[in-house]
Amino acid sequence: MSTTRTGATGNERNSFIYIVAALAALNGLLFGFDTGVISGAMLYIRNTFELATVFGYSINASLIEGVIVSGAMIGAIGGAALGGRLADRLGRRRLILVGAVVFFVGSLIMAIAPTVEILIVGRIVDGIGVGFASVVGPLYISEISPPEIRGSLVSLNQLTITSGILIAYLVNFAFASGGEWRWMLGLGMVPAAVLFVGMLFMPESPRWLYEHGRESDARRVLASTRIESQVEDELREIEETVRTESGTLRDLFEPWVRPMLIVGVGLAVFQQVTGINTVMYYAPTILESTGFADTASILATVGIGVVNVVMTVVAVLLIDRTGRRPLLLTGLGGMTVMLAVLGIAFYLPGLSGAIGWIATGSLMLYVAFFAIGLGPVFWLMISEIYPMEVRGTAMGVVTVVNWAGNLLVSLTFLRLVDGIGQTGTFWLYGALSLLALGFCYRLVPETKGRSLEAIEADLRETAFGGDASEQPRATETDD
Ligand code: GLC
Repeated sequence: MSTTRTGATGNERNSFIYIVAALAALNGLLFGFDTGVISGAMLYIRNTFELATVFGYSINASLIEGVIVSGAMIGAIGGAALGGRLADRLGRRRLILVGAVVFFVGSLIMAIAPTVEILIVGRIVDGIGVGFASVVGPLYISEISPPEIRGSLVSLNQLTITSGILIAYLVNFAFASGGEWRWMLGLGMVPAAVLFVGMLFMPESPRWLYEHGRESDARRVLASTRIESQVEDELREIEETVRTESGTLRDLFEPWVRPMLIVGVGLAVFQQVTGINTVMYYAPTILESTGFADTASILATVGIGVVNVVMTVVAVLLIDRTGRRPLLLTGLGGMTVMLAVLGIAFYLPGLSGAIGWIATGSLMLYVAFFAIGLGPVFWLMISEIYPMEVRGTAMGVVTVVNWAGNLLVSLTFLRLVDGIGQTGTFWLYGALSLLALGFCYRLVPETKGRSLEAIEADLRETAFGGDASEQPRATETDD
């Protein structure tokens, strides 16, 4: 059995690692801001442009709106598809810098867009930046963190996603009276600039450096982020698993990597098809149908954003103590129950008064259960379960699946509600949550407190048995 490195001297820590992780977590802020801002901005974009023609074609206005909203997700799918490989080639830190620039440029284009076509281009560019950020943020933090606090540090990225959503709701609220959608979208430039400048002063991932033959640089980074007595131990562990070639897409299907590919893809799909982003994008609409007035539903939406942030803080504090599985399973159990209750509330006649409150309460609790489980655990897990040589590639693939799921759910939600009603829709998400619970219970491993190298060694051991260090490497196996 491989070693679990818990730090040579217990809980002593070099506090610079907190600064590195907090700064890199701004990647999540870009992601969240982008997710939260568009619904508010869209209300006023309609008044600026004639949304009936694009690129000379006359098209249904709501379709154009759909393209503006989902443009970022399409960009993010592309960004994530490229991001995994780029993170392996360029390095994690450099890709974060590139992502921040791309996001900045996209936000600038949107803020000054003279036509709807240019606005769409800006939205797609912005989305590409988000796609990069969503892969490389968790990847970088995971590789630079000491194992005993890796869960909390990587989950900071989910905390900034939820904070970004909340900030965007507040920004929308602040600029709503003047309908200043250019400010709403343009403000994304601020976190992008802070991330870029800050990252100039942050080190590269020691694991990526080692993998690229830069042992002394890797040692220097460990020395700046660990206490002295931990550096050599960790370097030795990295050395044991290092491969010189980086893996390709085909390597993801190697028999010892495949089970984790299934886990990652499964988590990516379930994180989206259990419906969280219908709440993030359509909360005011859902709340209005439970009997809230216009303004009250916008305020309640802010309340949902707060619940999401607060419960993610709880997850950050717990995740390295309880482990990933208990949070994931409790979260999914809670989501299933809340979705069932939500469906019942919408089924009862006269959705107002007490029933309206039950619906609102269960919606909030649903978000709370997502926030302690599936929200942070997905992004954390995919940064932990892949072997070094395919980590970037695998995270890219899994993140593409996650964004595709996001797009699918946001495009189908309103149509589903039209077709099978709110009750049917929430029960469908509930059934999928139950399925997710079974999937996670059976297949998702516990990674708490273990070094990335120990997790990798376990994978080899499970697949091949015997001494992990003697097993074939992913790029060398030929079956
Ligand atoms: C996760 C999801 C993202 C969602 C967010 C909500 O980060 O990946 O799609 O918007 O949680 O908190």
